[in-house]
Amino acid sequence: MSAENWSPSSWRSKPIEQSPVYPDAAALAEVERQLAGFPPLVFAGEARKLKRMLGKVANGEAFLLQGGDCAESFGEHSADNIRDFFRVFLQMAVVETFAAALPVVKVGRVAGQFAKPRSAPMEDVGGVSLPSYRGDIVNDIAFNEAVRVPDPHRQLMAYRQSAATLNLIRAFATGGYANLENAHQWMLGFVKDSPQSARYQALADEISATLGFMRAIGLDPESHQELRQTDFYTSHEALLLGYEEALTRVDSTTGDFYSTSGHMIWIGDRTRQEDHAHVEYMRGVKNPIGLKCGPSLTPDGLLRLIDVLNPENEPGRLTLICRFGADKVEAGLPQLIRAVQAEGRSVVWSCDPMHGNTVKAAGGYKTRPFERIMSEIRSFFAVHQSEGTYPGGVHLEMTGKNVTECTGGARAISEADLRDRYHTYCDPRLNAEQAIEVAFLIAELLKARRDQRGLAAHPAAAE
Ligand code: PEP
Ligand code: CO
Repeated sequence: MSAENWSPSSWRSKPIEQSPVYPDAAALAEVERQLAGFPPLVFAGEARKLKRMLGKVANGEAFLLQGGDCAESFGEHSADNIRDFFRVFLQMAVVETFAAALPVVKVGRVAGQFAKPRSAPMEDVGGVSLPSYRGDIVNDIAFNEAVRVPDPHRQLMAYRQSAATLNLIRAFATGGYANLENAHQWMLGFVKDSPQSARYQALADEISATLGFMRAIGLDPESHQELRQTDFYTSHEALLLGYEEALTRVDSTTGDFYSTSGHMIWIGDRTRQEDHAHVEYMRGVKNPIGLKCGPSLTPDGLLRLIDVLNPENEPGRLTLICRFGADKVEAGLPQLIRAVQAEGRSVVWSCDPMHGNTVKAAGGYKTRPFERIMSEIRSFFAVHQSEGTYPGGVHLEMTGKNVTECTGGARAISEADLRDRYHTYCDPRLNAEQAIEVAFLIAELLKARRDQRGLAAHPAAAE
């Protein structure tokens, strides 16, 4: 059953924001025709499984870890980058699984995260004005008139890169590399080298003891596939709707439409107008979807979007990715939570502590102070604590590499350090160490929450 009056192309009759203007319409149509004949990147059954897992998150029975590049690029596509990202991600997941004592749903911003919304359509440098860079799927980042023209052939490159990335990730996730004991050993290496190792050692030791106990009673990766493999899902912002439409397919087992460009797709903060194209496209596909919620979203506006995007109130269908900024979350989030609770809507509440905390550093670099990122996460947990709701997950921009893009963290990266290894194609990412640190600090919050609830459930234990 498809949504009423919906088709994969019904977005085309709606107003649209952030849409690149392709000068060669015939070339664009030809690329979309080719994409429509290519194999799907993901399968509907996988998207359904992710939706079931996110349904558990909505019910407080799992935790969502979503993260990856702000923008994937053609230039940085290598096995090393994918492997290092995956390694860091798994270490974070081990720490959080242990702290929450719940399954961690692993979703990468990867294998399709190419299209970028921009705050200005033009970029001015030294008196020259050119169309803004909109991600490698649209145009080139070089500040040069010829390559800033949107080129539809780049969509074919993005599709093929997504397929290759996903192929390697599937091999890592199921071929033994994602072995729990490997992830644990990598994490111990991180703790040993961290200037904050004293803070993280206790949790690391508890995990070591638990794995030792499990091995002693025969629960080891050699004999248990669950300890050797993991489920890892892909996600991206579904911004370039012609590309998304071409990869929209009918699932033969259910007859439903699915986006097959990634398991989960989301609507950005700039394209969530309820009567516009992006919301129109998303309402008709059955994947789990995300909605970025920034300070300009009103409680009524959110409820109207929920009506359109999840009319059947299906748990796991809709993840609200809140990105207020450390200084705005305490004022803005409670009213959204209350509106959703009052209407009995099932959602996953996730915290994106990146996009509301971007600042300009001396030297012109966009950066994000580690402390502000952590401050937003702490406030997110605190607000859910006082509203009686579940802080279901986090959404991070991160890389497995040792870049210098966000300031702070245990190594106290300074504004002056940013120029050393500032490699991002768009927003500043947590580097490998900063990302694992964030995971340890989230683990403290998850554990505190669990301890508190344990005491609430067994008041006698508090005495
Ligand atoms: C992003 O996630 O990279 C992004 C552009 O976020 P937002 O839509 O929340 O600004
Ligand atoms: Co970003």
